Amino acid sequence: MNATVDMSRRSILPSPFGRGAGGEGVKGENSSELPSISTNSPHPNPLRAPTEGWSGEGTNDSAHADSIVQTRDLCLYYGSKQSLFDVSMGFPRHQVTALIGPSGCGKSTFLRCLNRMNDLIDDVSITGNILLDGEEVNDPTLDVIELRRRVGMVFQKAVPFPKSIYENVAYGLRIAGIRDRKVLDEAVEKSLRRSALWDEVKDRLHESALGFSGGQHQRLCIARAIAVSPEIILMDEPCSALDPRSTTRIEDLIGELRGEYTIITVTHNMQQAARVSDYTAFLYEGALVEFGPTKQLFTKPERRETEDYITGRFG
Ligand SMILES: Nc1ncnc2c1ncn2[C@@H]1O[C@H](COP(=O)(O)OP(=O)(O)O)[C@@H](O)[C@H]1O
Ligand SMILES: [Mg+2]
Repeated sequence: MNATVDMSRRSILPSPFGRGAGGEGVKGENSSELPSISTNSPHPNPLRAPTEGWSGEGTNDSAHADSIVQTRDLCLYYGSKQSLFDVSMGFPRHQVTALIGPSGCGKSTFLRCLNRMNDLIDDVSITGNILLDGEEVNDPTLDVIELRRRVGMVFQKAVPFPKSIYENVAYGLRIAGIRDRKVLDEAVEKSLRRSALWDEVKDRLHESALGFSGGQHQRLCIARAIAVSPEIILMDEPCSALDPRSTTRIEDLIGELRGEYTIITVTHNMQQAARVSDYTAFLYEGALVEFGPTKQLFTKPERRETEDYITGRFG
């Protein structure tokens, strides 16, 4: 394992790390200000102790002024079984972050925490903090509908509703009570253009979306997510059911959406993570092993576990 940090390599990308970044600090950076639920995991995290010679850089443990969402010591239990162990990380605003790790390591579980989709699963308990622009996501008084507007989600298997293309995209706006036809028309067109689907569907907006290909379904679901003007788009293996050509289109789309939205995407395809993301987080057995600029994580990982995983030694 190489524990030396090559600062010249890091400097080509904006640093997500607070230390030495010259940032102004994050709202609520002082942990005593946080509406903490609980910060102590009863179960020690086997990966939390640094391995010998590890510098501690690269795990993104510290706050950063440009993180839109931050988790602190996030633990999640399904009943008595712990599935996330003290995950502390910040997601840089308007960048693409990939979550990688072997099947069952907690990628989907972690992603669902960010817009409280785990609320829909019985017997889930969560400790630690999730701060969206400094606001605690698990605050019981938080408006969850508004949270999910701000933090949209695209799933592995795109499921269009049995409605027209137009109504699929307008769905979230109608739920929000928008009736004005002009507003809806504009939002539908903008979202379909943004998701690179407009030219294919503009002449049949009021036809069913059910005849679509898998790739078109996925772009339609991205359009639906975009229509409500989210700040963050979570994607859980958005390409795993797609053919290579459709995969390329979705990857290109992720690249085009960067800058306007913060995208957090789960993939178990490491080449895809390397192609589409600015930052990568490697999770293993429910713990964050390493976080860093994608290029650095793939060329010069700081943890032995990361190196073993990206070189295919396990997983
Ligand atoms: N609804 C659930 N109920 C109980 N355990 C679950 C549930 N969803 C996931 N798990 C468990 O949590 C762990 C992480 O799963 P998951 O987040 O789906 O991993 P990944 O997305 O990385 O494959 C696994 O051990 C899985 O069995
Ligand atoms: Mg998953």
